[in-house]
Amino acid sequence: MSTGVVEKSSFLDMEDLKCWYEKLEESVQQELMASCDDASHDLSHFKRVVHTALFFARSEEGADPLVILAAAFLHDIVSLPKNHPQAKESSRLAAEKGGEILLRIGFPKEKISSVEHAIHAHSFSAKVKAETIEAKCVQDADRLEALGALGLIRTFYVSGMMNGQICHQEDPMAQKRELNDRQYSLDHFALKLLNLKDTMQTEGGRKLAYERSAYLEEFRGYILSELENKPGEALAIAEKCREAALCGRSLFHPEDPFAKRRPRQADLYLIDELLMDEEKFGKVSREFFAELKKELDLKENLIS
Ligand SMILES: [Fe+2]
Ligand SMILES: [Fe+2]
Repeated sequence: MSTGVVEKSSFLDMEDLKCWYEKLEESVQQELMASCDDASHDLSHFKRVVHTALFFARSEEGADPLVILAAAFLHDIVSLPKNHPQAKESSRLAAEKGGEILLRIGFPKEKISSVEHAIHAHSFSAKVKAETIEAKCVQDADRLEALGALGLIRTFYVSGMMNGQICHQEDPMAQKRELNDRQYSLDHFALKLLNLKDTMQTEGGRKLAYERSAYLEEFRGYILSELENKPGEALAIAEKCREAALCGRSLFHPEDPFAKRRPRQADLYLIDELLMDEEKFGKVSREFFAELKKELDLKENLIS
């Protein structure tokens, strides 16, 4: 990791932070190898939350980057599927397990309870108030992952994992029925995703959340118009995200998401599969890829 992320944190020993970054990445990787078959919570999700949370911390007074680093790396170390009876307990269990991991790797003991609080409070469904600036940075960074093109991919992917559908065919905007986001992804937009921007607690988080929320709404508009007219690119993208979960594909290659320096592997990566139709891309796909690139470049810019 370069100095870009922490240049304002002169009080912190850069070497120390770098060293903890490596230790935490290794611990998370080991845990994920043992248990993770959910590509929406893969190592790249953890790392994006780390970098984004540290980025938000730069404009927030008094944030402790080491607490943020550990909490962001461990925030989903337990992440039960949304249809699991204990799903709402995930962040509490993650805080417990995160604390144990930190003790085991010799993390400064006096900071562990702050890390645990930030992990516990990150979850939307746990409804725990983020009391510290570190918790606010981690919560905002994680919420941002549910918005924009990344949010689209992850939402439709999770719907595939839970055997859900893209939307209710006759009443996609739930004008004459109750919203049901277990079953329909578009209902999840209305119940949760489009409300996230108003829960942001850092300046940086709010700005990016508004931008990415606008993109989500735009994409929902494309889906609605395709439902009225004829299926097109938006429904095809959503369907391929769902299928990626059913086929056990990863979302994208962690180092080279757009296959610039390697052959495409459509059987392994969702984005590679979407890129197979690149010559036929219309407005919706071009916008989707431009948005996704911008979102992934944010991380690149923070660590380069
Ligand atoms: Fe989570
Ligand atoms: Fe997360």
